[in-house]
Order: sequence, then structure tokens, then C-alpha cells
Amino acid sequence: MAEANFLNEINKRRTFAIISHPDAGKTTITEKVLLFGQALQKAGTVKGKKSGQHAKSDWMEMEKERGISVTTSVMQFPYRENLVNLLDTPGHEDFSEDTYRTLTAVDSCLMVIDAAKGVEDRTRKLMEVTRLRDTPIITFMNKLDRDIRDPLELLDEVETELKILCAPVTWPIGCGKEFKGVYHLHRDEVILYKSGLGHMIQDVRIVKGLDNPELEAAIGSGLLETLRDELELVQGASNEFDQELFLEGELTPVFFGTALGNFGVDHMLDGLVEWAPAPQGRQTEDGKIESDAEQFSGFVFKIQANMDPKHRDRIAFCRIVSGKYEKGMKMRHSRINKDVRISDALTFLAGDRELLEEAYAGDIIGLHNHGTIRIGDTFTSGENFRFTGIPNFAPELFKRIRLKDPLKQKQLLKGLIQLSEEGAVQVFRPLINNDLIVGAVGVLQFDVVVARLKAEYNVDAIYEHVNVSTARWVYSNDAKKLDEFRRKADVNLALDGGDNLAYIAPTMVNLQLAKERYPDIEFKETREH
Ligand code: G4P
Repeated sequence: MAEANFLNEINKRRTFAIISHPDAGKTTITEKVLLFGQALQKAGTVKGKKSGQHAKSDWMEMEKERGISVTTSVMQFPYRENLVNLLDTPGHEDFSEDTYRTLTAVDSCLMVIDAAKGVEDRTRKLMEVTRLRDTPIITFMNKLDRDIRDPLELLDEVETELKILCAPVTWPIGCGKEFKGVYHLHRDEVILYKSGLGHMIQDVRIVKGLDNPELEAAIGSGLLETLRDELELVQGASNEFDQELFLEGELTPVFFGTALGNFGVDHMLDGLVEWAPAPQGRQTEDGKIESDAEQFSGFVFKIQANMDPKHRDRIAFCRIVSGKYEKGMKMRHSRINKDVRISDALTFLAGDRELLEEAYAGDIIGLHNHGTIRIGDTFTSGENFRFTGIPNFAPELFKRIRLKDPLKQKQLLKGLIQLSEEGAVQVFRPLINNDLIVGAVGVLQFDVVVARLKAEYNVDAIYEHVNVSTARWVYSNDAKKLDEFRRKADVNLALDGGDNLAYIAPTMVNLQLAKERYPDIEFKETREH
């Protein structure tokens, strides 16, 4: 009986993140999704640029000024028989490695597309990341209350640009002022849209069947004819939903709606709980751990400071891969091979921190970090092992960081190393000089680092230009060759925050030449923790 309950707890969980281009509607969808989960009584409190209200995940004035959330927060809510974990990812055009790593902690993604615009840059980039693990993708075409592009053309664009097959589950009837609702291809029913009810869960009117005389009265003969014609095309030209292809990341079910009007979001959620995978296992150094294994295990994919100014602590976000967390349990912190008793793990119900009694595979728990936990760390009960696959990404932006007051060099170094352990930024120390080079994936990381160095380490730092345009971690199976490389290429070599050797190149051409010159050396774009 206990066993059945354990499996039921795991199987009812769905852990996902939203990927989208800024302004496509991620925040709005998050609000509505939480509304369905009843986590927020009235939608509109996740972010309110106009009202001045901000999500509790906002942790710095800087973010408030910009009206964005830099942080990744975790929200858990019930939906139907299921329990859904939504991991928020920064949506601003400036983004960080956190976004990427968050995607290693989910089992599926919701791709939100502005249907007036189609596939945009950030979506392309994030889709590439989901491809690393073949994460199943659900698609929501948003903003149907505006004039959108031809829906067939949108599907075609997704298929050709993102290399994923589209299986429409709902089909729009009109758009903009003429938006009447959607036809649900699987349920053979039309769900009618009423504008102006986006702040609540609506009692929608449903018309069963395309030949139902009520339908013509509801949407008009012109739109009905268009709908019939389009459906004929859709059924001929697009794919039917296929669970297996979806789970392999090869096919995406597509929903149409308007997040602002809170229409279609529930159809998407229905699809999510029905089709998206329950918590999946993860690879370790010695094979895979499945989510239903009895042993507790999890990995840290994010460390966040100052979540709540009142608490002044750092929280390590741990994705539970297998088993069950119970308050007060003993876990092994794998990298330092030490047992810790955890009685104060946190969960994040719509941004509020709550002390947690128990949690299961698929859930995210927040562990208080007093400086010992690093990104990628594994926690286990019982047998000790380490998860793999939580990457550091080669930064694309570099700056030299310098102190206003040179006497504080030690604090600066300490601060930078700790921030790099948290994954907030990467730091490179050239072998041949005492420079400190900060590397980031998104520009905003630079500002965050300076603000945190000031607030937490009491150092005033400034940036200068540095002639570095890319970095690669270097490896070789041949110790002699690596040694020789280290001597010959020392002007371009540096140690990162964890003392790993990296090649820092002034230009891509320089990197290419180095690769050709040293064929026995591997130059890697990611480094696993
Ligand atoms: P993001 O998190 O992906 O960046 O997008 P967000 O939800 O903040 O939405 C970006 C803008 O698009 C917001 O307007 C939002 O109200 C609007 N929006 C989202 N979904 C829909 C939709 O279905 N239809 C329409 N017409 N608009 C939608 P804003 O004016 O830029 O921001 P705000 O001042 O309303 O916060």
C-alpha cells in the first residue's frame, strides 16, 4: 500500500519550464496557470509593471527598475489529479546560464510563441538547449485576440526552423476582434471565447460537433466555412499527435489561445498532465537512476542569493531525481562525501517559502547553503554516486574586472570564486598574469556580479575591456601532450573558478588555428560539474 502511494506521488508529478522569446507572454501564461492551480486567487500578481507589484522572486532593486525577473523561481500547484512544478526561467532578452541549467531540471517544456510574430531568436536558442536532452515540447500559440499570422504558415515555420513536427490539438476560429474560440480536434468540440474575462476561470460555452446547427449561430457562416476548409487542409497537411514521437522530442502538440484572455491555457494544461512525462530518471557516472528508485537522490542546478532580503541566505535548488525527501532526513553530500541532516528544506508555492515535510521525485527543494554547495552537486541517501549532465556553458562575453581599492584583492577573488561556484558568472585567471576575467553568457550577469560584490563582499569593482572573445575548456588523454600544450600556449590559457584549464581566445580564428595546431587537445564548449 505504502509502495503504491509512493509510486502514485511520483507519477502524478509534472515538472516543466516555459521557453519563449521576451514579450511572447511567458509571465502572463504563468499567472493564468497559477490561477488554474488556485495558487493565486486572482491572476495578476506575478508581475505587474503597471501596478508596481512584483513577483516575490524579484530580489534586487535593479530588477524592479527594469521590470524583469532575473531569477529562476519554482512554483508548485495542483491541476486536476496532478501536481505540477513550473520552473521559471528568465525571459528578458538578456539571460544567463541559469536558464540553460534550469532546463536540465525539467521533464518537459512549454514553448510559447507570439502568433503575430512566429519563431523568434531566443526561442530558437532555447530549443537548441532542449535538444541536448530531447525534452518533450508542448507549443502554445499566443495572442489570438490580436491579428496573427496564418496559422498554417506558423506551423510550417515551427517545423522548418525548429526541426520539430507539429500536431495541432486545437485550431483557431478567427483572430483579433473576430476571434471566436478554438476547435478541439481530439474532442470534436468548439470552445467559444468571450473577451474581457482573462482575470478569472471562465465558464466556457462548448458546442459539440462541427455539424451542430448551434455552431453557425455562434460563429457565423463565414468563419464556419473557413474553419471547415482549414481543418481539411490541416488534416491533410499536418501530423496527428503521436505520444512516442512527443516523448522523443520529435513532435509537438500545438494549442492556440490568448494568455491575456485566459483562453486555451487550460487546454494546454490538460495536454501537459495527460501527455508530458512523469519525473524521469537521470544519468550518473555509473548508469541511470530511475525516478521510482527507493533511494533519495537529487542534484543542484541553481544557487540563488538574496531570494528574500529578510533571510540573507543562499538557496541551492535541488531537483529530486528519485525517492522521497522527509524532513529531518540524513543525506550524503556526494562531492565532499559528508552526511548532512536536512530539516529545513524549502518548497516554493507561488513564490512563498514554506518549510517542507516531504517531497518526491520531480519536485524541487531549496537547501540552505552556507558556502559548501556548488552547482552540479549530488545529494543521496544510501549508496553514494554523482549525477552527470549539469553543464557550464562557454561564456560569450568577457570583461576584465578591477578594484577601485587595490587593497581588497583577496575579497574580490574570494567573491568571484564563490559567485562562480554558484554559477552566477564564470571567472578566468590567466596563467601568465594576475588579471581577473569575468565571463558571462548574458550581459546582465556583469551587473549582477558588481552589485553582489558590493553588497556581500564590500568591494567596489569596475570592468575594463579585455581582448577575449571566446573560451573553451581543454582536455587531453595524453598527459604529455597536455603539458606541452600548457607550456606552448600559456599566453592563451587560464584557470577557471574551479581550477579547470581553459583556452581563452582573442578571436574565433585564433581558436580555430589552435585546434588545428594541437589536434590531440580537446576544446570543449561545455564543462560538466
Ligand atoms: P514575457 O513574460 O514573455 O516577456 O511576456 P509578458 O507575459 O510580460 O507579456 C508581454 C506583453 O504581451 C504584455 O503587455 C502582456 O500583457 C501582453 N500579452 C501577453 N499575452 C497576451 C495575449 O494573449 N494577448 C495580448 N493582446 N497581449 C498579451 P505589456 O503591455 O508589454 O506589459 P504589461 O504592462 O501588460 O505588463
